[in-house]
Amino acid sequence: MPRAQWASRMGFILAAAGSAVGLGNIWKFPYIAGENGGGAFVLIYLVAIALVGFPIMIAELVIGRNAQASPVVAFEKMAGKDSNWKAVGWLGVITGFIILSYYSVVAGWSLSYVLMSICDFLEGKSPEQISSLFDNLYVSGGVNVFWHTLFMLLAIGIVYGGVKKGIERWSKILMPVLFVLLVVLVVRAVFMPGFSKGVAFVFAPDMDKLTNAGILEAVGHAFFTLSLGMGAMLTYGSYLSKKTDLVRASAIVCSLDTLIALMACLIIFPVVFSFGFEPDQGPGLVFKTIPVVFSQLTGGPLLAILFFMLLAFAALTSAISLLEVVTSHFIDKFGWSRKKATLIPGGMIFLFGIPSALAGSGALLGDWQGIVGKNFFDTMDYLASNWLLPMGGILIAVYVGWFAPKKLIKAEFHEGSKFKSLFVGWLWVLRIIVPIAMVVVLLYKVGILEFADPNLPT
Ligand code: PFF
Repeated sequence: MPRAQWASRMGFILAAAGSAVGLGNIWKFPYIAGENGGGAFVLIYLVAIALVGFPIMIAELVIGRNAQASPVVAFEKMAGKDSNWKAVGWLGVITGFIILSYYSVVAGWSLSYVLMSICDFLEGKSPEQISSLFDNLYVSGGVNVFWHTLFMLLAIGIVYGGVKKGIERWSKILMPVLFVLLVVLVVRAVFMPGFSKGVAFVFAPDMDKLTNAGILEAVGHAFFTLSLGMGAMLTYGSYLSKKTDLVRASAIVCSLDTLIALMACLIIFPVVFSFGFEPDQGPGLVFKTIPVVFSQLTGGPLLAILFFMLLAFAALTSAISLLEVVTSHFIDKFGWSRKKATLIPGGMIFLFGIPSALAGSGALLGDWQGIVGKNFFDTMDYLASNWLLPMGGILIAVYVGWFAPKKLIKAEFHEGSKFKSLFVGWLWVLRIIVPIAMVVVLLYKVGILEFADPNLPT
């Protein structure tokens, strides 16, 4: 069978943006920015996106489109069947498996908030009451498993539908609606009393608040938010035609992703400061703040339903890219049918997600504190975002920069691109800047370079 292809260039951009834009932008970025003091963290994040994320995204698309295969087979094709580079592909498949398992739990929270909004649960509640709704949800194991199950079924259903009829079709509809809704909410936030304080928190860097741990987290998040380091973009690139300008496409996806993360902050922090919340509330932040805005707005209940539906959709377009990495791996490597390659790995990911769904309730693992003093859910997130994705990213950069056949890489970069002259600069960024930046980050992480922050788990 010929390899599936995106129906249009726009379809690809929306699918890739759909993968990038997700819970990472609206749920995670605001809360880690909040925990790390705001502005300075945001600044480091922006630098990491431009300097590390953008070049690696091009690199993943270059490999994917050239090899026309999912990560393991792509490395086999480019580096040789027996080459060790295919381990990078395997690392990606495993990382996709891990991320989707807990990602689905958070996505399940959004689904649960859709239902709460429909049932008027958020109506007439004080900000404190709204806050405690999340705390209750977090510790309700069975409820979390229920929503996790539902979300995994949705993701499996779409990936089962294939590239064009599943992934592309849904991304094309959902992404634009999400964007419009975010614009509406930002406009509303402008009129809140805490708006200027919120803006200052996000954009005025206070370098004193930045810890080494914060720097690491910002760089790790750049990978997470752009879906890099595990071959998701590589896999999406494998469905691309030669006409697409990979540099331009990457620039658009990186910009959209960053824009949406910043918009989420411009909604959430004005609410935080208008209602006297603390910015460092951790994973519940978006669920505790956004419903408060809705409870104050005319038409709020309807907007609440829409917002959480869209958050779940944003999560869905990312989840399908996580699952697609695993699914396409089994199709390409072992010749499985799409049906089998979706259902079996999807089912296993679902099972592996159950301890994460139960983490807040303490069922199953009690108060297991993992290797890093975190519960199962947080451990998985920590492992994937701070270790596996950056490691995958650096290896991809080093491979493309130093080891891949340069002629081939150059030809693929040039194909369909108006930015041919950027090739040499890009290659050297991958060769030098990305590895050095990432090695410094990793050395801090393992504690070889010293931490200023005594709280960081090593
Ligand atoms: N980029 C997604 C987000 O920000 O929510 C998460 C993600 C999707 C990470 C796909 C990695 C990936 F391969």
